[in-house]
Amino acid sequence: MKTRRWRRWIFMAVLLVGVLCLRQPVQAAESQMLGDTMRLAVKVATALIHSEASGDSAVVKNVGFGEQLKVTEKTGNWYKVSDGYIHTSKVVLYDKNKKHIALTFDDGPDARYTSVLLDGLRARNIKVSFFLLGEKVEQNPDLVRRMQEEGHLVGNHTYHHVQLDKLSDAKAREEILKTNNLIYETTGRYPQYMRPPFGAWKKNLELRVEMMPVFWTIDTLDWKVQNTEQIIKTVEEKIKDGSIILMHDEYKTTVEAALRLADSLKEKGYELVTVDELIMP
Ligand code: NI
Repeated sequence: MKTRRWRRWIFMAVLLVGVLCLRQPVQAAESQMLGDTMRLAVKVATALIHSEASGDSAVVKNVGFGEQLKVTEKTGNWYKVSDGYIHTSKVVLYDKNKKHIALTFDDGPDARYTSVLLDGLRARNIKVSFFLLGEKVEQNPDLVRRMQEEGHLVGNHTYHHVQLDKLSDAKAREEILKTNNLIYETTGRYPQYMRPPFGAWKKNLELRVEMMPVFWTIDTLDWKVQNTEQIIKTVEEKIKDGSIILMHDEYKTTVEAALRLADSLKEKGYELVTVDELIMP
């Protein structure tokens, strides 16, 4: 009889401790002051500025893609801007005094050289953007998963490397959506960005496929020259803040050039980011 009562007391005590633990008040999110040179750029079509750091608070105004905002501090998932608060998921934070560029790789993944590139990028903690062909996604799903897991941007480059403006609307959509679905099946995430082969976009196609086309500012012609020194020279002559560099990870010379550029550009004060983080003019 006595032991049973003790057991009951112990049970009650454990229950009480459990309930008290669960009732611990949620710690208020700490505010973090951001430096004078920090800015936000809106990365979605439209975002809301709220009166307080809460989605339930009143909406003060709407801001659109690419708009830049001065930011003073971050509290939890909210940035404080001059008119109110904006959610961190809608914007990119950047330092206006830093120079940003993006390395981009089309036509992969390549069974021979993409993993060499990924190894080199991982060792340097650098993120790049890949625009993949659907047919190669099917052949190399592990490489696509690895890109995603290691923080690179995975984009779409059509299924068969087609020139979209020469196709019917229906065929163009099919080339894009088939590749989107393959990437989704492989990584669990739909791509939001695409690079049209040959830089040929169809007017207003972005409205029908809900994707953002990404072009380039420096064409290395790596596929043509296949010469590491030549590729590096082309980039170093043209590089400036905001450059988007076009390469192809299916050549040994390109992978060598890309990794050497990653080191030399970093030394020159450039920060290497994925295209979604790049502030487009
Ligand atoms: Ni291509």
